[in-house]
Amino acid sequence: MTPIGIFDSGYGGLTVLSEIRALMPEYDYIYLGDNARAPYGNRSFERVYRFTLEAVQWFFRQECHLVILACNTASAKALRSIQQVNLPEIDPSRRVLGVIRPTAESVAALSKSNHIAVLGTEGTIRSRSYELEIGKLYPHITVTGEACPMWVPLVENREYDKAGADYFVRQHLERLFAKDPLIDTIILGCTHYPLLMNKINQYLPKNAEVISQGKYVAEALKDYLQRHPEIERNCTKNGTMHYFTTDSPEEFAQQASIFLNQQIKALQTNLE
Ligand code: DGL
Repeated sequence: MTPIGIFDSGYGGLTVLSEIRALMPEYDYIYLGDNARAPYGNRSFERVYRFTLEAVQWFFRQECHLVILACNTASAKALRSIQQVNLPEIDPSRRVLGVIRPTAESVAALSKSNHIAVLGTEGTIRSRSYELEIGKLYPHITVTGEACPMWVPLVENREYDKAGADYFVRQHLERLFAKDPLIDTIILGCTHYPLLMNKINQYLPKNAEVISQGKYVAEALKDYLQRHPEIERNCTKNGTMHYFTTDSPEEFAQQASIFLNQQIKALQTNLE
């Protein structure tokens, strides 16, 4: 069996996994959350790169031929090096894809003002990956980033729907619109953030819209598999799903059920 690997530092990638499985339930999937070392958001480039590479090598040992980094921080800081330096050495026939490019490709059609915002972790915003990707594709679009370092802990600690979350959600939206009042489209450039959607919508100006990236990543993956039969052939189709975490599997199963709206079982791995 050669499942598709889906990776995140923790639970956030489950929001992407849900959309991918909704669109393509026929494939086999393995999800890995590196919960023991999450969050990645404020870690150095070197560390995120090393952790992500270790995860990718683990997926390859599980026979995955295709791995999706369902984590913006890992996509921003590790994807390019893995694709250009590591894959040619490890196995040029395997593929690792990220979430930033497919999201960047989809945004132009959504904005009328051509002023777009990206909310993300410190690492993603500082990398300027969204500005660079969107700038390459749509140079007429202005992109403003805002790092929201408290949002991942709010989600990971199940505070995303509590009163305390209001303060941090409002704070960052106010800062964002102070930087550029013409923004009409906001990308949730962190896979944890869709869980804060209700709060975000509450404090959003009327003419602005928030988009979460799972749907776009799923559509882009479907399109990719259609265009690359040599990769698609290697993805087995028994509709299985396995969850792994580097931390407590009981804790993972309990938390993941919130993201997925269903009970699951998880296994622990040390990435060996
Ligand atoms: N889910 C990750 C992302 O999309 C961030 C979580 C973290 O900081 O580890 O960027």
